[in-house]
Amino acid sequence: MQASKLGSRSWLISTLLSVAAASVLTSCRYDGTGTKMQWAPDMADSPANKAQRSYLDPPVGSVAMNAIFYAKTPEDAEKQFAMPEAIGNDPEALTKGKELFNTFCIPCHGADAKGGHINPAIVPPDLTNDVYVKRADGFFFHRITFGTNIMPGYGYAISAWERWYIVKYLRTLQKKGA
Ligand code: HEC
Repeated sequence: MQASKLGSRSWLISTLLSVAAASVLTSCRYDGTGTKMQWAPDMADSPANKAQRSYLDPPVGSVAMNAIFYAKTPEDAEKQFAMPEAIGNDPEALTKGKELFNTFCIPCHGADAKGGHINPAIVPPDLTNDVYVKRADGFFFHRITFGTNIMPGYGYAISAWERWYIVKYLRTLQKKGA
């Protein structure tokens, strides 16, 4: 009794197994046109990603821990941002600022920030002009970050600290120019 029960159960199991094996085997075509069985297909079937959309977009409702919330306009930036004290106290601030200015700004603004020394087609304004001397530091921080009109933004290449170093150095050029 016990033995025949077991026997019928193992018959059932082996039938099910052979049906499963047959369906797996027949589902693959080897002429290269069928979909082959895939094991861990993550690399082959990557999710479609829309252009300009980051994989790293944070999930809806997540809260940024380390983000810098930039002011939208230079006027807002002037009110909200001030030169950090640490930059003012850094004895090497001007050396660093000069190096950065000479790397990123010289091509269009010239070593004296008076503008237009390299490419005659690009005529940037004279940054030693009174109009600019009167602007608060946040204005320059904003412009370096985002650029304006045909001036490209450098937020991606120059860190926030480095931008302040540049502003600090630019102030010394403005004093010489005045
Ligand atoms: C590719 C050329 C180019 C480079 C590099 C460049 N600028 Fe400019 N910049 C311009 C031009 C052109 C303008 C004038 C934009 C306009 O049409 O109003 C300008 C304008 C400005 C202004 C005045 C913006 C205003 O609203 O009046 C500031 C300040 C300035 N640049 C700072 C910098 C600093 C600092 C750097 C270096 C980090 C830099 N720029 C690098 C081309 C450049």
